[in-house]
Amino acid sequence: MKRDILQELFPTGRLPLLAAPMFLVSGPELAVACARAGAIGSFPAPNARSVEILENWLQQVSAALAGQTDAVPWALNMIVHSTYDRFERELELVLKYQPKVVTTALGSPKRVLEQVHSYGGVVMADVITPTLARKAADAGADALILVTQGAGGHTGSYNPFAFIAEVRKFWSGPLGLAGCISSGSDLRAAQLMGADFGVAGTRFIATEESMAAPAYRQLLVDSDIEDLVESKAVSGVTGNWLRSTMASAGIDPAGDGKGKQIDFSGDISAGKKAWRDVWSSGQGVGAVERISPVRDVVATLRSEYRAALQAELAFVTRALEQGVVT
Ligand SMILES: Cc1cc2nc3c(=O)[nH]c(=O)nc-3n(C[C@H](O)[C@H](O)[C@H](O)COP(=O)(O)O)c2cc1C
Repeated sequence: MKRDILQELFPTGRLPLLAAPMFLVSGPELAVACARAGAIGSFPAPNARSVEILENWLQQVSAALAGQTDAVPWALNMIVHSTYDRFERELELVLKYQPKVVTTALGSPKRVLEQVHSYGGVVMADVITPTLARKAADAGADALILVTQGAGGHTGSYNPFAFIAEVRKFWSGPLGLAGCISSGSDLRAAQLMGADFGVAGTRFIATEESMAAPAYRQLLVDSDIEDLVESKAVSGVTGNWLRSTMASAGIDPAGDGKGKQIDFSGDISAGKKAWRDVWSSGQGVGAVERISPVRDVVATLRSEYRAALQAELAFVTRALEQGVVT
């Protein structure tokens, strides 16, 4: 029988949302808080400074969520780039701690499929173009996450309407949308565009459980879309950055960031320095109005999502009664 991954991850009644993995921002505390609040949480494996610390984090998450009936799953984000020298040891930990979801970045999801499937896990691949989406689909990914224009971190460049439409021509499987999902109605809109679930990063940076510095969280509260700049100068890859932090770090947004790419075969702390000094956010930052616990953020998203569905029901009912579109 074909596996119903969407039903496994988002059974009826659960918010169709994954809190995105974020470099230097999401750790075990955030992932656990999300799961307890009813959303799938995640963190990138490289946020743990060593493989030993990563094991400690995985133990922490497993212990915190152990024994809960209907526990919401959590996700680990792995770098699958061929030069990432922690990959094999991280994969051993994945087999031991069995995160329900593994999301892959910077390479083919093929490298983790067999192992993650062996314990019933799900592999999702982050992609920024239809070509990469097709490659990930051909490699056997269980779900795709389309990273679109305006997303925080290393952003995509495509508009979500057009990107989803292109990918839906060849992919009918589970599809996530990342980029500026900041409210429950954004989440519902993503589904109306053709996605099955949303992936939200920026909305979770200014939470009490994130690893972001207090000044970073406050800056998000104080910022809106016009405070961002899209630039390659910080990391050599196009990302969305808070302009004032680039200025303080003395980085010209017009630069191409050549030579700043992270070298995964060595110490990635050089790449970390850029992210520590220059802070990233997605264009949905205007929705961040206060620093709050994750449970409040998820509760807000849930009630907004419900309100969006109710508004839609009223709209559809009226449209059918009155024949708005004939
Ligand atoms: C500060 C920051 C760090 C990020 N780091 C990573 C990362 O390490 N790995 C990854 O796959 N995506 C990373 N992302 C991208 C997110 O996973 C997600 O795609 C994005 O935040 C969604 O857009 P939004 O921020 O507009 O919600 C990062 C995003 C932000 C804002």
